[in-house]
Amino acid sequence: MVTVNHQRVPRKRTYLMCSPEHFAVEYAINPWMDVTAPVDTELTVKQWDRLRETLVRLGHEVHLLTPERGLPDMVYAANGAFVVDGAVYGAQFKHEQRAAEAAAHRAFYESQGWRFIAPSETNEGEGDFAYVPEAHGGLILAGHGFRTELPAHAEAQEALGRPVVSLRLVDPRFYHLDVALAAIDDANIVYFPGAFSAASQKVLAQLFPDAVIADDADVMAFGLNLVSDGLNVVLNSEAAGLAEKLEAVGYHPVPVELSELKKGGGSVKCCIAELRH
Ligand code: ARG
Repeated sequence: MVTVNHQRVPRKRTYLMCSPEHFAVEYAINPWMDVTAPVDTELTVKQWDRLRETLVRLGHEVHLLTPERGLPDMVYAANGAFVVDGAVYGAQFKHEQRAAEAAAHRAFYESQGWRFIAPSETNEGEGDFAYVPEAHGGLILAGHGFRTELPAHAEAQEALGRPVVSLRLVDPRFYHLDVALAAIDDANIVYFPGAFSAASQKVLAQLFPDAVIADDADVMAFGLNLVSDGLNVVLNSEAAGLAEKLEAVGYHPVPVELSELKKGGGSVKCCIAELRH
């Protein structure tokens, strides 16, 4: 009998988050947003703070971006840029309502001395870009179809010097890559095949034959919108099925409640940008 020994090793991360003090659902730019559904801001802040504390407790460093009034989606800090090897590829939002967030992220990175590359193509940062450092020598996975435009993938490759694999998203409920796919360690991913075109599913199967495959219930519970340090996988508490699948292959699921932020169409990963040195 072959015994598979999954030795999962956590790696310390540096993250960027932005408090949801001004969070609201005032406009609808994805199918999850309902402007008539009430949002409990106090609860939103409480849940977000627990997420932040969880990351700190796991040994990670969390930087904070100052929230701005009039930018209710600014809590989704993952969308503001994409950082690889110390280089920052800036965002350019698709929707006018979020456009001003890009400058706030840029100011943060520039004040910290990061190398910032301004985009000229529409892209929503880590919402549509994921990095898998040990896969094929360091691979960027990129989504298009709803928010990020295809030319931004080529621009990111030139900015960051890593190969970018373009993946086409086909289901409006999964409008960003990070609601349908996530890196669970330095070499592997979890994804929901149904969010991608048939050809993109083929590409993912070729590149990641050992990927964890998520199902309908996992993706609808925002389970894929996770962050992992290689061992600990912080994910939405509603995604119990996905937590079980990850545990079965040696990861340590850390569930967090983020019911309020789901009303904006996001969860764990959307709130967290990774700063990769
Ligand atoms: N309301 C935001 C939007 O539609 C949610 C963004 C979620 N962020 C993410 N990284 N998927 O733009």
